[in-house]
Amino acid sequence: MSQSDSFGLLLFAPAAVSKKATVIKDLKQQDCEIVYEEQIRLDVERAKKFLELYSKPSEEEANRKEDTIATLTEDSCLALVVKKKQLSTTLKQLFEQNNVSADKEGGGENTEENAFSTKYGFPSDLIYYCTDKENAKECIDFLFPNLDIRSMSESNNPRKYLESTVVPILTSGLTQLCKLEHKPEHPCEWLGQYLIQHDPTLPPKKKIYFVLGGPGSGKGTQCAKLVTEFHLCHLSAGDLLRKEMQSGSPNGQMIDRMIRNGEIVPGHITIELLKNAMEEQSETRGFLIDGFPRKLDQAGAFEKLVGDFEFILFLDCPQEEMERRLLKRGESSGRSDDNLESIRKRFTTFIETTMPVVEYYRSREKLVQVDASRSVEEVYKDIRSYFIESKSV
Ligand code: ADP
Ligand code: C5P
Ligand code: MG
Repeated sequence: MSQSDSFGLLLFAPAAVSKKATVIKDLKQQDCEIVYEEQIRLDVERAKKFLELYSKPSEEEANRKEDTIATLTEDSCLALVVKKKQLSTTLKQLFEQNNVSADKEGGGENTEENAFSTKYGFPSDLIYYCTDKENAKECIDFLFPNLDIRSMSESNNPRKYLESTVVPILTSGLTQLCKLEHKPEHPCEWLGQYLIQHDPTLPPKKKIYFVLGGPGSGKGTQCAKLVTEFHLCHLSAGDLLRKEMQSGSPNGQMIDRMIRNGEIVPGHITIELLKNAMEEQSETRGFLIDGFPRKLDQAGAFEKLVGDFEFILFLDCPQEEMERRLLKRGESSGRSDDNLESIRKRFTTFIETTMPVVEYYRSREKLVQVDASRSVEEVYKDIRSYFIESKSV
């Protein structure tokens, strides 16, 4: 706040409140900033105290005090906290009777008062204003003890701040919630997620895509191509588990055994590895998570912990083709599970445990399926179209 800015208080008695628009228009025309506005109801005690703080009354005014209190308490008053350089001069010009020029000439003895009334539609004694630094501050503090006027300005006005940030997104969230065909069991939780996902003050959300398919369907191969074209970060759940196993982690032996048997490692271990790996990639635009969620409960746990995803890309490939590819890969991969015995177990796990995930998300329209039995290039041609579409959404 610059030194010559000052705050003032205007209190409209109830009989003047309905005409506030004209007064506010004039104030704004004079570059007065309205930093706070509230309708308040004064009881007799508060009205009395306000009048004491407002001015030391003259004898005549003291005699009229009862009437004034009655005027102030008959309904809600309107209080405006205003800010401007040389505020007192401006308010005097606007509200002192002899400075008000009426649109129509008033007649009779009390021409100046008539001029005020004609312009604003109420007599001048229905508006109280104080601009004297101490006096205004006392009145504002009395009426609004929690209002911190020093932190208030056009750019730091709570109502304006909310109007430009939270209100639009909250309105759109509530609208979406009303439109949902299946209403969520926990609407506040749903709304919270919506607000986080659509928060305009946060950097653009990193998109998450899952890639599923049977063992050998080509997940890793296709992800490598997507990384090159779409600059996504590829995280393979299987690769992370193998790395964890080799790192000498306490879970290493269990992971080793489960991988050889084609079993699914407990979700919390995999999700923790994925979450850590994602946090390390702060620069990426999005994630391709390959080989996950392999089990239905992993999907829910991940969404709760990390967030929503765009879709699951499902590579559909006949078992005989996958087996051929894996046996070929096994010639050089060095993987403990690229042998016929492990491969067969992996197929069984895929059908029994992972296909229900595929079907669940298909039914929720969060799955895109591609025929992965074709050549690498043919498969990729289909896949990339989904990512191009998702990028433009
Ligand atoms: P996944 O990650 O799903 O287990 P990979 O991408 O590692 O599958 O592919 C398994 C093997 O099959 C690899 O040796 C790879 O080179 C080969 N492969 C991948 N896609 C195709 C394809 N469309 N046609 C033929 N071979 C493929
Ligand atoms: O995806 P990939 O073929 O590399 O996975 C190898 C093995 O890693 C799986 O057969 C399974 O034992 C384990 N895995 C898991 N949970 C995942 C992904 C992989 O247990 N989400
Ligand atoms: Mg793979």
